[in-house]
Amino acid sequence: MRTFVIMVGLPASGKTTLRVGALVGACVICPDDGIGYTRDRPWTPTAARVAWARANEELGKAMSSGGPDVVALDATNVAPKRRRKYIHMAEKAGMVSIALVCLTPVDECLRRNASRDKFRRVPEDAIRRMERNFQMPQVEEGLAAVISVDTMVPEEVSKAAVRLELAIAGDRMGK
Ligand SMILES: Nc1ncnc2c1ncn2[C@@H]1O[C@H](COP(=O)(O)OP(=O)(O)OP(=O)(O)O)[C@@H](O)[C@H]1O
Ligand SMILES: [Mg+2]
Repeated sequence: MRTFVIMVGLPASGKTTLRVGALVGACVICPDDGIGYTRDRPWTPTAARVAWARANEELGKAMSSGGPDVVALDATNVAPKRRRKYIHMAEKAGMVSIALVCLTPVDECLRRNASRDKFRRVPEDAIRRMERNFQMPQVEEGLAAVISVDTMVPEEVSKAAVRLELAIAGDRMGK
């Protein structure tokens, strides 16, 4: 079966870094790409709204039949309510969903965020708010697997690709 990978993690928890190494060959949709986070294209509520509208459209196309075998959404997705819509979309498209979670302590996220370029920085209160909203993904949400990676442990980061591969392969054998 085709697979949808929904990434989960606070801002600056290491999602994009992880998926660049672990999701080679997948079709990755990342709303942040549409925002820019540069001097000329800084984050604004409008830029974020436009980027999300485009990402939702791209996701719909990628999930439609004949699309790539593995489609991933690189965004924070910290709350079940947020994830529901995408897991449901995948289900309707006949795909299985796997959550790939970056478990990084909030203080480390704040540290990593602070050392980013100023246009790429996420406001601290937004990170703290997302931490309050964070709920660990559960299989009951319609997920075939939940893979969590402690990004403070380099071996966990380097094994993420293999764990993901095994989850996808296991799912293919099972269905
Ligand atoms: N395992 C790690 N150890 C140390 N630093 C890391 C690790 N992973 C990522 N970083 C650094 O932390 C910062 C944030 O990483 P990244 O951009 O991947 O996070 P993100 O979760 O995608 O953030 P956002 O939600 O804002 O897009 C980057 O500067 C990155 O180089
Ligand atoms: Mg990112």
